[in-house]
Amino acid sequence: AHSSLIAILPGDGIGPEVTAEARRVLEALGLDLAFEEAPVGGAAYHQTGNPLPEATLDLAKRADAILFGSVGEPSCDALARHLRPEQAILGLRKELALFANLRPAKLFAGLEDASALRPEVARAIDLLIVRELNGDVYFGEKGMRTTDAGLRQGYDLMSYDEGEVRRIAIAGFAAAQRRRGKLCSVDKANVLETSQLWRDVVIEVAADYPDVALSHMYVDNAAMQLVRDPGQFDVIVTGNLFGDILSDQASMCVGSIGLLPSASLDEGGKGLYEPIHGSAPDIAGQGKANPCAAILSAALMLRHSLGQPAAADRIEAAVASALAAGHRTADLGGTCSTKAMGDAVLAAL
Ligand code: NAD
Ligand code: IPM
Ligand code: MN
Repeated sequence: AHSSLIAILPGDGIGPEVTAEARRVLEALGLDLAFEEAPVGGAAYHQTGNPLPEATLDLAKRADAILFGSVGEPSCDALARHLRPEQAILGLRKELALFANLRPAKLFAGLEDASALRPEVARAIDLLIVRELNGDVYFGEKGMRTTDAGLRQGYDLMSYDEGEVRRIAIAGFAAAQRRRGKLCSVDKANVLETSQLWRDVVIEVAADYPDVALSHMYVDNAAMQLVRDPGQFDVIVTGNLFGDILSDQASMCVGSIGLLPSASLDEGGKGLYEPIHGSAPDIAGQGKANPCAAILSAALMLRHSLGQPAAADRIEAAVASALAAGHRTADLGGTCSTKAMGDAVLAAL
């Protein structure tokens, strides 16, 4: 078998700090992996004037899988939108057709006290958010204009076509089949036409999955249920914006946003792997960031793109045992540095 090429795109803020730990863990596995790094986001903008340089996009396309850190830079917040760091991750998702974003959240043993929820509520969490990543209000027509009354108006068109909904619904049902057989589709069909189509198509797809129990929930209720009784959820399938918001919320239910990894997959199994968190400018450069989300993203990469499920299990078990032994970064109330946390995971490997 040829060696697998991993594109490492560290990005901005804590991105390089957490990605370095994930890479160390991957290197320790003794697998046949080759790594190639490229700038992305604000770092790339400052070097080249483009947050997603052609060479970086080329590398992402050539690679067998992509390990992504995070993008976003306060120094770039005033730039024209197409030059902002965030366009790099949006561009990669779109260019590579990475439409299915898997965001698992599970309570690690020993982290009951770190959850924002009561221990007995938190203990039941083992869910997967399947977030659509190529459409919705993120990618519709957008702009600034002036109304007839002379007022400035911003607009972003929300839309989904049935093909987009069908393929993410299939990803949701397939994930539910591999797990506990429950799928909750989250929408706002009581108000939005986009969501009515979403619901109609999800119901059509359900006919092919008689073994999956499908339910529907409005997104406002879902936000409430996620903190009331998160144990009721197995797989949640939802649109780009709702999935973004609900996954940050789910992260605090298991203790920290620094714990949640993600896989962004195309139709064929090619994937980009990144923590759900951002560049955290408030703690960047201080060695405080929790690298677990990035390390767990590397595990998802081994499982979903590299055909190495046993190595993925090994990483996840090492993170679990490092946490259970009390190694914690500041976000979890501990004193470990980013590197010390990486060391603890490596030792547990
Ligand atoms: P953020 O996720 O960067 O940070 C939110 C809060 O969580 C901060 O207090 C931060 O310190 C903390 N936090 C995040 N990750 C952590 C970790 N690994 N360990 C410990 N604490 C952690 O969200 P934000 O502040 O809203 O956004 C900052 C920048 O990141 C913005 O430019 C935003 O656009 C960008 N962003 C990028 C991505 C991405 O690259 N996929 C995702 C989210 C936000
Ligand atoms: C995420 C981020 C991104 C999103 C931003 C940075 C474009 O919040 O990956 O969750 O909204 O998808
Ligand atoms: Mn987000």
